[in-house]
Amino acid sequence: MTTEGKAGVSFVDVAGMSRWISEQGAERIIGAMVTALEEDFRRWPQFDKSPRHAVHTREGVMELMPTSDGDEYGFKYVNGHPKNPLRGFQTVTAFGVLAQVHNGYPTFVAEMTLLTALRTAATSAMAARWLARPDASTMAMIGAGSQAEFQALGFRAVLGIDRLRVWDTDPHAMAKLVRNLEPLGFDITVATSAADAVLGADVVTTCTADKTNATVLRDVDVVPGVHINAIGGDCPGKTELDQAILERASVFVEYPEQTRVEGEIQAFGPEFPVTELWQVISGDAPGRTSSPEITVFDSVGFAIEDFMALRFVRDAVRGTSYEATLDLVAEPSDPKDLFAMVAPAPAEVRGARAAALAST
Ligand SMILES: NC(=O)c1ccc[n+]([C@@H]2O[C@H](COP(=O)([O-])OP(=O)(O)OC[C@H]3O[C@@H](n4cnc5c(N)ncnc54)[C@H](O)[C@@H]3O)[C@@H](O)[C@H]2O)c1
Repeated sequence: MTTEGKAGVSFVDVAGMSRWISEQGAERIIGAMVTALEEDFRRWPQFDKSPRHAVHTREGVMELMPTSDGDEYGFKYVNGHPKNPLRGFQTVTAFGVLAQVHNGYPTFVAEMTLLTALRTAATSAMAARWLARPDASTMAMIGAGSQAEFQALGFRAVLGIDRLRVWDTDPHAMAKLVRNLEPLGFDITVATSAADAVLGADVVTTCTADKTNATVLRDVDVVPGVHINAIGGDCPGKTELDQAILERASVFVEYPEQTRVEGEIQAFGPEFPVTELWQVISGDAPGRTSSPEITVFDSVGFAIEDFMALRFVRDAVRGTSYEATLDLVAEPSDPKDLFAMVAPAPAEVRGARAAALAST
């Protein structure tokens, strides 16, 4: 049982998180997160699970993603605003909290915009480890926005994939990806369309952002044996794949109750067959069963992945300069005497404050 809470809440801000990732190496962290994630997926039945709480607006969605393993509780706040980059904002931003179950006190707070990119890459790479052909060597990346480099690093960490064929409707995004990943040793081909990008690819990652039922990947362009890692379709009315692909593929999901509402399979009814990824990882269900099989990981992002990521970074930064302490929990020495913390200050202090306020 965790028993933190009295000495303040550990906090990793954006500066601390970027420094931690840059100094420890995103690829190495994502690789280690895959191991941690597999441990959590193997104990899936232990977790408290529910579809995330989503508030949809004209501009985008804001979501809360809670879970607990009975010892700790965690949640992530995350938004998805596909038109944000046109206004100079990120499509996805996030932060998260851990708390201890025995008294409900928060113990850890962290930025999660960067952390989400790591955990999403770790989840994609973990799924591909179980679903892609073991000889996969080339990945098509459709969508070269914020998540893209992290996805590529995840696939290299776990499957050794270092050949990329990239396509994005925005040429600047493709140039940015080349600029970021070529110095890290990736062999990158800039494609002329999605169809061109998937030529010869063993894995196809779709990570575009558009609030529409888009056809980012057409059925005609998908050849036998491909593993599709579909991460951009993660909201009602926001999908990326030609429905015909799903009809001839084996589809794997995180949490069906959430994916049937938010994922690529939202187009189909509750009877559409899916396999839960945790069952594959625990050995209860088969993953890929033949070389020509087409596998789809219909990723939407689930709370247990964020819970892993928060615990992972909390443990990794403990006692280092990457973390700070937040005075977040009001704790009077008598637990029933909260008012003692706001008892009126002496009259002269109040008088001086009132005078100072009046003069401003
Ligand atoms: N499944 C998950 O766990 C998970 C986690 C994080 C983000 N996401 C989703 O992944 C997507 C990408 O996130 P991001 O942070 O990289 O967004 P981003 O806005 O930074 O990048 C999206 C990219 O997609 C490109 N694009 C849009 N439509 C396209 C099309 N039809 N063909 C090719 N390219 C196209 C855009 O030009 C942009 O470069 C978002 O939809 C986000 O909601 C999912």
